Amino acid sequence: MMRLLLRRLRRLSAASERSFSGLPAAQVRRTFLDFFRDQHQHLLVPSAPVRPRGDPSLLFVNAGMNQFKPVLLGTVDPRSQMALWRRVANSQRCVRAGGKHNDLEDVGRDGTHHTFFEMLGSWSFGDYFKEEACRMAWSLLTEHYGIPADRLYVSYFGGDAGSGLSADRETRDIWLHLGVPASRVLPFGLKDNFWEMGDTGPCGPCTEIHYDHVGGRHAAALVNAGGAEVVEIWNLVFIQYSREPDQSLRLLPQFSVDTGMGLERLVGVLQGRRSNYDTDLFTPLLDAIHQRSRAGPYGGRMGAAPDAQVDRAYRVVADHVRTLAVCIADGVHPGMSGAELVLRRILRRAVRFCAEVLRAPPGSLASLVPTVAQTLGDAFPELFREADRIADIIDENEGHFLSSLQRGSRLIQRTCLRTGGGAFPAAAAWSLHRDLGFPLDLVDLMLEERGVQVDRQELDRLVCHDQKMRAEQQADSRPRLLLDVLSLAALQRAGVPHTDDGPKYGYHLENGRYVFPACRATVLALYDGRALVPEVGPGQRCGVILDRTCFYSEQGGQSHDRGYLMRDGLQEVLFSVEAVNRAGGYVVHQVTVPDHLRTGDQVELHLDQAHRLSCMVKHTATHVLNFALRSVLGRSVQQRGSHISADRLRFDFSVKGPLSSAQLQQVDRCVRDVISANQDVHTLEVPLRLAGAIQGLRTVDEVYPDPVRVVSLGVPVSELLDGGTDRE
Ligand code: SER
Repeated sequence: MMRLLLRRLRRLSAASERSFSGLPAAQVRRTFLDFFRDQHQHLLVPSAPVRPRGDPSLLFVNAGMNQFKPVLLGTVDPRSQMALWRRVANSQRCVRAGGKHNDLEDVGRDGTHHTFFEMLGSWSFGDYFKEEACRMAWSLLTEHYGIPADRLYVSYFGGDAGSGLSADRETRDIWLHLGVPASRVLPFGLKDNFWEMGDTGPCGPCTEIHYDHVGGRHAAALVNAGGAEVVEIWNLVFIQYSREPDQSLRLLPQFSVDTGMGLERLVGVLQGRRSNYDTDLFTPLLDAIHQRSRAGPYGGRMGAAPDAQVDRAYRVVADHVRTLAVCIADGVHPGMSGAELVLRRILRRAVRFCAEVLRAPPGSLASLVPTVAQTLGDAFPELFREADRIADIIDENEGHFLSSLQRGSRLIQRTCLRTGGGAFPAAAAWSLHRDLGFPLDLVDLMLEERGVQVDRQELDRLVCHDQKMRAEQQADSRPRLLLDVLSLAALQRAGVPHTDDGPKYGYHLENGRYVFPACRATVLALYDGRALVPEVGPGQRCGVILDRTCFYSEQGGQSHDRGYLMRDGLQEVLFSVEAVNRAGGYVVHQVTVPDHLRTGDQVELHLDQAHRLSCMVKHTATHVLNFALRSVLGRSVQQRGSHISADRLRFDFSVKGPLSSAQLQQVDRCVRDVISANQDVHTLEVPLRLAGAIQGLRTVDEVYPDPVRVVSLGVPVSELLDGGTDRE
């Protein structure tokens, strides 16, 4: 009996390691494209960039069909090339890290989920339909890639009474007709076999082809069961409907076929690997990570296996660096909102796993970019061209997060010690997110590694509360806790000196990167909204006035800094700075204190560096825009105001008459030229009188301090003072 079992096990494992073609990934991709072009007259079209073109319903391109949405919905411009297309195929770069299709939190836990992947796709726009689509897919898999038919299962839409949709028997019969045994043709419901692009847009019933990595058995029960042995490889969608904003389904006048097959999984199947990370799309990357890390080599362990955490880190870093490289090449940079914010989250997760689990030195993540280019450059040559730029951006963003990461890890460690393995306080988890910029899912992961859990209900409450606060603040932009005339007089009577906010410009460049050092200060006064008070207690909102600060207060149309204070002797509690305002020479830091704070306390101030840098970049951009507008439209252009926050800039100006689209294009080009010239930004504090004499200096209708800080692009301010010419 035992021998029989062993023999059976050996046979199973031999079967599971079977590689049908062993084709390298580049050839798998080529075979797909050649098949559709040469055998079935499809036009090969390039992948669209990962930033969706004019489709606000999506953060990222999440499927090959996104760029064809206008054709599928019949809204395509009839004069465009696209309107003529009937059969196309391509390999599309896709990101599933937000919105309806989001795989971010599964990455690393298994071998098949990715934030970035390539989707091999074929389409018929009102040309062939179900039968040809199934026939082509079956032929490619079984005849060209050589996958044995008995390892394949197919699913079809079994109908949904609630939505009034009947079962897709036509597709079932097509598969039976193609010779697939009835026991392998399986009906599923809306969740598995009705594909939708997003909350709205093209959709329809689909039929999927699943592959059994084990073989030699009947595995129908494992289809769509979420295991690693039987996996979906190809999805054939029959686009028949449009999901409307009111959630109704509108039947389309023209039916289309939209198929998508993840390259990574297909390569896994063809190279006999259950985990995509064991294929040639990933192994060079895992090797490169190993060379830089102080961890042992990648061992492919998953779940609760010892050291699985290290292997998970390998997978996360390999996945995330591919996503970062592709997104940055396509112009999506880590940032403060929308897709940019998602990318920032991905980058921070990668930095954490690299630095803390794999113990790789700073700069390691960026150093992987050439390997990404080597593994993907065949399909996306822009990765070679853009490799340096991508690495610089990764490096710069890594730098912003590393110091917060160290602080956050210490905070977790100390808090866990204090709670002795009990529930992790939601307030501390929230502080990691709000004050140190940790993505919440990363906090969850880090706690999971320590076997502790956060009070989820309380954390959700804090998240909701914060969202509500932000919405309220947006609706009411009046500064809160602004010193009134009585409290200003009280401060003066008490001899409190004005705040020295010189340290707000105390940043410097280190290896081409801005560094914003922390600053130490003393609490000189506390303002509770009505009067000065000597002390505030937990939960109280107050204005904190210090002798000095590195925080930028709301002024000149630029929003205030964010960040936190730490009180000496209470290092694990972060006092989040919610707003910073200025009145009568005093800078007021608005804080809801998590613990006691008294006048005389010593604090350390840390500003959110990425937030500040985003504001700085946009501030410079307003000046560039002003210059470009005046160059193109003449000097009658007058700036009327501007508002800069971390995620957007608004520029108000007056000009005679509307701008033509040609003028807008010229302005756009001029701005791009200034940016590409990559000139230095010079600054100098100058007496107001002298600054006023600089020709071409642009000011707005505002009261400027004396001395005033003059900013110049390209030309040192001192040269402008030497009677320089109008440099506009
Ligand atoms: N749009 C379908 C998918 O993404 C088929 O391409 O799965």
